Amino acid sequence: MDVLTALLLLVHLIPVSTAKNGVSSKSRKRIMPDPVTEPPVTDPVYEALLYCNIPSVAERSMEGHAPHHFKLVSVHVFIRHGDRYPLYVIPKTKRPEIDCTLVANRKPYHPKLEAFVSHMSKGSGASFESPLNSLPLYPNHPLCEMGELTQTGVVQHLQNGQLLRDIYLKKHKLLPNDWSADQLYLETTGKSRTLQSGLALLYGFLPDFDWKKIYFRHQPSALFCSGSCYCPVRNQYLEKEQRRQYLLRLKNSQLEKTYGEMAKIVDVPTKQLRAANPIDSMLCHLCHNVSFPCTRNGCVNMEHFKVIKTHQIEDERERREKKLYLGYSLLGAHPILNQTIGRMQRATEGRREELFALYSAHDVTLSPVLSALGLSEARFPRFAARLIFELWQDREKPNEHSVRILYNGVDVTFHTSFCQDHHKRSPKPMCPFENLVRFVKRDMFVALGGSSTNYYDACHREGF
Ligand SMILES: *[C@@H]1O[C@H](CO)[C@@H](O)[C@H](O)[C@H]1NC(C)=O
Ligand SMILES: *[C@@H]1O[C@H](CO)[C@@H](O)[C@H](O)[C@H]1NC(C)=O
Repeated sequence: MDVLTALLLLVHLIPVSTAKNGVSSKSRKRIMPDPVTEPPVTDPVYEALLYCNIPSVAERSMEGHAPHHFKLVSVHVFIRHGDRYPLYVIPKTKRPEIDCTLVANRKPYHPKLEAFVSHMSKGSGASFESPLNSLPLYPNHPLCEMGELTQTGVVQHLQNGQLLRDIYLKKHKLLPNDWSADQLYLETTGKSRTLQSGLALLYGFLPDFDWKKIYFRHQPSALFCSGSCYCPVRNQYLEKEQRRQYLLRLKNSQLEKTYGEMAKIVDVPTKQLRAANPIDSMLCHLCHNVSFPCTRNGCVNMEHFKVIKTHQIEDERERREKKLYLGYSLLGAHPILNQTIGRMQRATEGRREELFALYSAHDVTLSPVLSALGLSEARFPRFAARLIFELWQDREKPNEHSVRILYNGVDVTFHTSFCQDHHKRSPKPMCPFENLVRFVKRDMFVALGGSSTNYYDACHREGF
């Protein structure tokens, strides 16, 4: 286990000394995986359970931590939707019986669950940009539909909302008591699970959930790239990345054997089974403690699961090493990062709009943003993952602003590529906002290795 991965998991404040290249230093302070909380080697089932993110006791989080003379100016939250029903079925098997209605006597539960349902069922008026109006506001099927948010998913985001409310509203008074619609910026993709996740988070977050003050914009692209989606070089990186993925899979004979066995059990060609992305469905079985499916030829089992999940972990490792995904991510994440710093810059100028921004999104949204920020060691976005940008103002030097970046409650600011050497170069306790601005406006293109210094040129580079 490498340092950052251990760090992202262990919220404990173990003395840590990081060294270059992610290798632990040879000093006696070397961080060791905690034998109580961290298995000695990457364990596929353990990793999968982290991904499930099953709600339990209140977690520790580092959001909102800053020296006393700093004032919170604005907060920008990127979430992945909560736990959902699979997007694929394993061919010729009964799909897992998961109930997507919301009821108080089923776990996991949140004290605001019934109030949430009752509020949502009263309807919304004109709170959504088309075509979001046609989506249901909360999950409500006795047998979940494909991709539907589950009760677990709703509870995960009610919890996220409550946690952020305690920190940002109660403690830091981010919104005034008479807050208005234009102090929120809300955006979601057009899936019911992202809209509902956003609503659940807001319901946990806002002191009064008034439909008149809610307006969700619709984002057609999972990259949240709005008017700047056309980027041929980004697509070329993605094609190369997919080729890399394909070649790695071919090299894994155990994986091929496992798909073969599973295909035999469900009696379809191996190719068809693989195309049905069985890991997605198996994760649902695991997260919901429902046994894997059987046919008269046998059962899909935990060994199959472990082989596929282990391959996924291996794939992520190679993905970091080969850096094609990084190229894709730098270009893919630029528009949303650019939009975010634009919003932050307006706040530094004293504008009081859009103090809290929420982007309700997908793993394919968060993952490129993490990678682009230089957080490639961070774990793959789990259900209801949250990535937060905080903007702070130094009351003693009102012209100076700082940022903090938090992933699932862990402060990762000094692991980002725009602030990782900060402590060596600067006595300031916080990461200067200019570092992020410089990174998004210019350095992220320099990091691509060509000569481009802006988005348009980087996207249209010849001879890549
Ligand atoms: C999972 O299900 C089994 C029975 O199918 C049950 O014995 C066990 O307690 C369940 N585990 C959890 C964590 O709910
Ligand atoms: C970046 O944001 C600015 C406004 O803040 C905008 O004018 C510009 O077009 C954006 N660039 C891209 C590539 O999205």
